[in-house]
Amino acid sequence: MKILEKERIAENLTKFVINAELIAEKALPGQFIILMGWKKGERIPLTIVDADKEKKTITIIFQEVGYTTKLLGKMNAGDSLYSLVGPLGEPTPIKNYGKVIILGGGVGIAELLPVVRAYKEAGCVITSILGGRTSDLVILQDQIKEFSEELFITTDDGSLGEKGLVTDPLKQLLEKNSDYGLVFCVGPVPMMRAVSNVTRPFKIKTLVCLNSIMIDGTGMCGGCRVTVGNKTKFTCVDGPDFDGHEVDFEELMVRQKRFITHEKQSKCKLNKYVKDE
Ligand SMILES: Cc1cc2nc3c(=O)[nH]c(=O)nc-3n(C[C@H](O)[C@H](O)[C@H](O)COP(=O)(O)OP(=O)(O)OC[C@H]3O[C@@H](n4cnc5c(N)ncnc54)[C@H](O)[C@@H]3O)c2cc1C
Ligand code: FES
Repeated sequence: MKILEKERIAENLTKFVINAELIAEKALPGQFIILMGWKKGERIPLTIVDADKEKKTITIIFQEVGYTTKLLGKMNAGDSLYSLVGPLGEPTPIKNYGKVIILGGGVGIAELLPVVRAYKEAGCVITSILGGRTSDLVILQDQIKEFSEELFITTDDGSLGEKGLVTDPLKQLLEKNSDYGLVFCVGPVPMMRAVSNVTRPFKIKTLVCLNSIMIDGTGMCGGCRVTVGNKTKFTCVDGPDFDGHEVDFEELMVRQKRFITHEKQSKCKLNKYVKDE
């Protein structure tokens, strides 16, 4: 599992093209891998952004948010990952939904790419809305634009597109015309909750791609459990895509913070490691 290419696509955002023949052969849009960068490293889930059967490669894009992703960002082309498992999860349901709105926030935009491409190939007419805190974080605009009839961009600080949140253009579009067959959203949990709240009164099918904390990725440990429609689901095997109108986002947000003390301790360890380097 050699890293063949490494590209810095924005500050703290890295792309790897990895040699992974068996995963590339089977991967479908919406699926993910769980990787370990090194022996005794943490297992972390990352979306398969692209899979090339002929080149026998997969592409991942990750944001350096904590211990594992920051160390992963220090690996280079030529280095090998310790382990890679996948493709995992249920693929995103792809069919012609007619008019579709796709929303991506931050690194979620990378996770959106294979899905947008597949919806386009299925015949959907796509309006994309991308958002980020600032312009640098609104990545892959050209690639998303290629598959979209319309593209709206929002940034929190107004450095690109409209100043505001992705829900602003979403509301405006739905108030003008609500004949959309699907809204699909990937991003931070508060964003996916806000999008689901906007679409609920319009009764538009809304899929959200959940990023709950995963450990084994096989439905055994229960780490990724979420409540959807009052039923317990495991994001790794039942998802990661779920009906946004049915997800208990409040519970998910509490569960996301379970390991916050450990994450802070790891960051201190990392700062020491970087200083000693
Ligand atoms: C199905 C799925 C697909 C994902 N795809 C991508 C992607 O394509 N690109 C990307 O940048 N990120 C993706 N993530 C999130 C990514 O897994 C986390 O950012 C990463 O695990 C953080 O690890 P860390 O040690 O660097 O940070 P930490 O400091 O340990 O954690 C930072 C935050 O990352 C999340 N996190 C930590 N550990 C895990 C874990 N084992 N599983 C899930 N989330 C965790 C938590 O919300 C935590 O608060 C995905 C998550 C899931 C569940
Ligand atoms: S990650 Fe263990 S059950 Fe999903």
